[in-house]
This record gives sequence, C-alpha cells and structure tokens, in this order.
Amino acid sequence: MDAKTGFEITLGSGAAWQVGGDVVAFVTFGDPSKDPVFKSADQALGGLLSEVALSESFEGKAGQSLVLHTHKKLAAKRIVVIGAGPKSDFANANMRDVSAAIAQIANKTLSASVALVMPQLGANREAALVQLLTEGLYLGTYKFGRYLTSDEAKRPHTLKSVAILRDFKGAKASAAQARAFATAVVRGTTIAAATNHARDLINEPAAIATPLHLAADAQAIAKKHKGVLTVTVLDEKKCAELGMGMFLAVGQGSDERSAFIHMTYKPAQGKKPKKKICFIGKGVTFDSGGYSLKPSNAMEDMKIDMSGAAAVISAMDAIATLGSEHEVHAIAACCENLVSGRAYKLGDVLKSMDGTTVEINNTDAEGRLTLGDAITYARTKIQPDEMFDFATLTGACMVALGPYTAGVMSDHEALVRSWLGVAERSGEDMWRLPLNPRLREQLKSPIADMRNTGDRFGGAITAGLFLKTFAKDTPWVHVDIAGPASTSSNRPSQPKGGTGYAVATIVEYAAKA
Ligand code: BES
Ligand code: MG
Ligand code: ZN
Repeated sequence: MDAKTGFEITLGSGAAWQVGGDVVAFVTFGDPSKDPVFKSADQALGGLLSEVALSESFEGKAGQSLVLHTHKKLAAKRIVVIGAGPKSDFANANMRDVSAAIAQIANKTLSASVALVMPQLGANREAALVQLLTEGLYLGTYKFGRYLTSDEAKRPHTLKSVAILRDFKGAKASAAQARAFATAVVRGTTIAAATNHARDLINEPAAIATPLHLAADAQAIAKKHKGVLTVTVLDEKKCAELGMGMFLAVGQGSDERSAFIHMTYKPAQGKKPKKKICFIGKGVTFDSGGYSLKPSNAMEDMKIDMSGAAAVISAMDAIATLGSEHEVHAIAACCENLVSGRAYKLGDVLKSMDGTTVEINNTDAEGRLTLGDAITYARTKIQPDEMFDFATLTGACMVALGPYTAGVMSDHEALVRSWLGVAERSGEDMWRLPLNPRLREQLKSPIADMRNTGDRFGGAITAGLFLKTFAKDTPWVHVDIAGPASTSSNRPSQPKGGTGYAVATIVEYAAKA
C-alpha cells in the first residue's frame, strides 16, 4: 500500500458482475440504453438499473451518478454508475473526475474495496487511461483536514483497494499489458501524491507556510532521494551578494526571512543528461500587496501566492521517483510581501541581479520582481537549455481566460508548442497569450531602465514582457497560473483550495525524452 495515498490499485481479473467486494463501478458515456456495459449490468440486475436510471433521470451526463444496492444479484454489494457525457466531449481531465467521484462514493458508503471497469476508449489510450484513473482516485480522496476537529472530519477514509478491470467481460491482460498497467499505476500514484503534497503546502496558512518552511520541505524531499536530488538554500546575505535587489526588496517588509531555494536532479550513475531544464516557481508566501495594499476580499486568499513554488518543489519529488534523462532544476525565490517601516515603497528604484534598474509604481506587482531575479539566477548560474516559470502573477490573466485556464507566454515557438502538447495530454488547461512587443512601451520609466507595472489593459502580457527582459535569449516559457492554482468550486478531482496545478505537466514534461 502506498503510504502517502492510503490505498492500493491493482489489475483486477474476472467478469465484473462476478467480482465480489463492496463496490463494482463503471462509466457510461451519455445515453445508458446504448451502453453494452450498462445493458449487461441491467440484465444481471433483472432490469433494476434501467428502472432506477429512469426514475432518477440518469442520462449518463457528466457529473451524474447512480448508486444501487445489488441485493446479491451481483457479487459486489453495490453498483456505481458514473456518467461521463458524450465521448466526443471527453477530455483527459474528465477521466480524473470519473475515478475521483468513484473514490468519493466509496468513502461515503464506507466501502473498502472497489472493482472499476475501465472505459473502452481504444487500446492505444489504455496506459494513459490507467494513469489518469489512478491520479483521479488519489486526487479525489484529498482532504486538507489538519485543522478540523469534528469526529466526522477526522474519520479516516475507508477505501483500501481498487481493482481495475480491463473490461466488464473479464478480458485477460497479456504480460506486456500487465507491465504497462503497473507502470501507469506507479506514474499516476507518484504524480497524484506530488500534486496532493503541493495542495498541502498551498492550503497551509501563511503563518506556517513561510519561506523557511518551504525551504525545509525542499530539504526533506531531497533527503528522500539521496544521490540524485540535492538542494541549496540561499539566505538573504547570499542573495545580497549575488545582487538580487528586486527579490530582497519584496521580502524586506516582513519579519520572515526570505529564502532562495534551488533543487537539482541529476540522472543516476553519472549518466550524461540529455538536456538541462529549469522550472521556476513564484514563492510569495503571503501577498498583502505591500503599500499598494490589497482590499481585504482580494487579500483573503493570498496564502496561495506560493502555488508556483509548491508545484516545482513537489514536482521534483515525483521526478526523482520516476527518473528523468534530463538534468532538472527547480527554483523558488520565497518571501512575504507585507507592510512595515522597512517595507519597499512606491517610487523606490531597485537594482536587479542582471543590473537593470526598476522603478516601483506598484508594490503589489511583486511577483515579477522576485521572478526576475530568479530567472537571472537560472540563466547565468545554471545556463539551462530551457526554462519555465509558474506564477500566480496577475488577476488580469484570470480576466482574460477565466479561473480554470493558465496563460502561457513565450517567444520560443518550438518550446511553447511542445509544452502545450504535454499540458494537453496531462489534462491541464493552458492557453497561449501573445507577448506583443508594443505593450513594452507601458513599462517605460523616466528615472530607471523600466518600471514594474503598465496599464490595466493587457496586464498579464506586460507582466510577461517584464519577465522576458530577464530571460533574454534563453528559451523560456512563462505560465501564469493565477486562476487554476486554487479553486472555490468543488470538482471531484479538485476539492476547494489549492489544486496543485502544473505538477502533472511539469512531471510529464521532465519524463519526456
Ligand atoms: N498575487 C497577485 C495576483 C493574483 C491575483 C493571484 C488573484 C491569484 C489571484 C499578484 O501579485 C498581484 O497582486 N498582481 C497585481 C498586478 C497589478 C498590480 C499590475 C494584480 O493582478 O492586480
Ligand atoms: Mg501582488
Ligand atoms: Zn502576488
């Protein structure tokens, strides 16, 4: 059993209606009367399933489900049917929701064992499907319960085992299929565990999840992977020596010490890495806005402003577990943006690590300052073949794309295409925005090389253009995750709070040859 996730997933055998246990579950795409699995189950249940479906208006739509006692007509105690909507609308992200919903129903009905019939989407998608189903099972049982004290909230999950059946008739797996299955389960488990870990870091109040807390977390992860993963934490003094004037200014108003985290994964046995990839995460552990103070309602959730850091740190755990042919770096420049007698002010001119001077016209545009120096550090100290940054950077990105889609900006066509391809397969919604150079005008300052914010229109893009100044010619992709990093609407695979967004795509990207 996986210690982190609490239950095991195995390749099941036998015909679905003869498999014993607490729950047998399957997925229906739209009209159940056209689904051979539904028809077979209905027949075994003597027509009960279609009767209940009719009376409960179950039409196999996404989000619908049926839970039925089988009254010993099937070997399992209960049957669960999950609606998934038409196959044509069915994306990879939905697959996670399907299995997440099943795991949640299992726990709600105090079930320990589940047999899950795999949806038939074609043999070539089988491994990907098993991985997504695995991820969904673990993501769906995530709960941030540390601070809940009721007995109900503290009740442990009942689910202990999930057997995945290749189809409802009991199709046997070949040795190769069984191997592919096992690999997919390991990948799914590892990615989901890392995603849930990122969620924990994000959901933790800022009083606990300080820059040093994130540094300690990175150190604990490195310790788990001795020999392949190392971490260096640069303190404020070291950052000052390196000239990180922008990063240090943002944290100078807080009593929490800033910490610059650098994790390095190297392929085992001294194998020469194919590429050097660097993932950079925004790590503002609380964003009050500084003297450009946020109104209370906008500040309320700002403990999530380190979601990028949480994603890159957690992803390194999964990357080290699964292995990669690349040398992979994670960087998180962590600090807290507060007001005090020492805080940075509007009108201040900061000197960045690459020497560029920046006039501050808004202390709430702090993320780009921390990232600018992190990007310079990556570009000059690591000299990666490619770098990516993940940042809850602008409300403007959410205005443009809504709360579920990340904004992706880059001038490197090949790199951004390959990134978006991996994101699509991982089921994380990302959309490209143009780095229109005309908007660069807005960042002009009369007294410094540039200022840190432009006008309201195109706010996500001017933030991207600001970062591009520091990325220079190193192939770079900027991912604004302000929207999808956290959610206020429940979805089976994503309960309210931090989502762990980007972990899945980062891990998949690093695994790619
Ligand atoms: N952390 C915020 C962006 C944010 C907003 C993330 C909402 C998640 C949800 C960022 O530091 C910020 O304050 N951005 C400003 C930029 C502006 C001052 C140019 C914003 O979006 O208002
Ligand atoms: Mg801000
Ligand atoms: Zn911020």
